[in-house]
Amino acid sequence: MARLLLFGGKGGVGKTTTSTSTAVGLADSGLKVLLVSSDPAHSTSDSLGVQLGPEPTAVEGVDGLWGLELDPEARISDHIPKLTESLGPLMGGENPDLNASEMILPGLDEAMAFDELLKHLENPDWDVIVFDTAPTGHTLRFLALPEIIEKWADKIIRMHRVTGGIRALMFGSKDGEKMRDELEKFRRRVLHVRRILCNPDVTRFTLVTIPEKMGVNETIRAHQALDEFKLPVSGCVVNRMTPDLEHEFIQTRRSNERKNVDDLSKSLPDLHLHEVELKDSDIHGIESLRNICAELHGEINISDGLGPFDIGLGLEVHRGTWSDGDNVLLHLPGIAREDLSLRSESGTVYVGINSREHPVPFDRPAKASQVNAKLEDDILRLTFPSE
Ligand SMILES: Nc1ncnc2c1ncn2[C@@H]1O[C@H](COP(=O)(O)OP(=O)(O)OP(=O)(O)O)[C@@H](O)[C@H]1O
Ligand SMILES: [Mg+2]
Repeated sequence: MARLLLFGGKGGVGKTTTSTSTAVGLADSGLKVLLVSSDPAHSTSDSLGVQLGPEPTAVEGVDGLWGLELDPEARISDHIPKLTESLGPLMGGENPDLNASEMILPGLDEAMAFDELLKHLENPDWDVIVFDTAPTGHTLRFLALPEIIEKWADKIIRMHRVTGGIRALMFGSKDGEKMRDELEKFRRRVLHVRRILCNPDVTRFTLVTIPEKMGVNETIRAHQALDEFKLPVSGCVVNRMTPDLEHEFIQTRRSNERKNVDDLSKSLPDLHLHEVELKDSDIHGIESLRNICAELHGEINISDGLGPFDIGLGLEVHRGTWSDGDNVLLHLPGIAREDLSLRSESGTVYVGINSREHPVPFDRPAKASQVNAKLEDDILRLTFPSE
């Protein structure tokens, strides 16, 4: 499984700039990186100067970097069709514009974004996925979703009985059971994403802020809230630090900022702070992003080969697919045996992870029945028949 780096913080502080420049730096160091943004304003495309879409697009000028912007128009029905089907009457029945589910289950938008993210995380082609998140409040809403689903499940089913009218009378409790099953499946999938987000072997959350009192206080609160879900927050970027210029006004600002940053590091002593200075113009285009990355992380060095290495963000990265002759090893943290399946079609073996299938990259055709699968310590080992 790829490693996931999340960047979050208040509006306008520099989430897109720092996440995009980190992604450029990681790709430059030889990793295969996917940069994902959920911002409907297309700020990632603007920052890179490259038009991105809802599918991974190679970023010209940076080998190894792909970017994608999640489709803001995507509907829950495209992602979780069975849930939509069973919630049908509540979701406006035949009328797709009437989407009542979002009023009923707050956090569904975020669930879609994270579900989509998981799809790419499970793709063994990527080394690192960098996610430029929506404001932290949205991430928290998603993290709270499994409990909300639990609380609401009975209520939704009762409402379904009322709105389902004649249908409910005809189908009785069977329909309710089906809905309960689908909701339970959905809740398990959300729980699975949450486990991945909270797994420090996979995920790191970097908070982004500015050196002002309000920004610092907000960061401390966000850190507390994320910590309650045990999300691994390891770093904080303090962006827009005033540069050292000879002017009384500038020097006063600098000493105020220094005090705020000191307060931040006193409140959160374990947080790794990275400072970035305010530049004389906006940060657009790949070269400016490379400069920001150098300021943020220094030179990112990775050794050649497959071994684990540190990327300066406190996370070890394993490169690409692990393959030794007849074995393909997939790192799937937090996965349970019953969430996995295996199937083949036209010589390609597909591994299903939480009901989503991924082709297993292998150099010759094989059938699922010839492949031996073993799950041990979060590693799925697929042994293919020898030639
Ligand atoms: N250190 C810096 N020096 C100068 N300009 C900067 C710096 N960091 C960010 N900017 C500029 O500030 C603007 C906002 O930054 P950015 O888009 O990265 O913030 P954001 O947190 O992603 O905002 P949003 O919440 O709207 O997504 C951009 O125009 C960016 O180029
Ligand atoms: Mg942004």
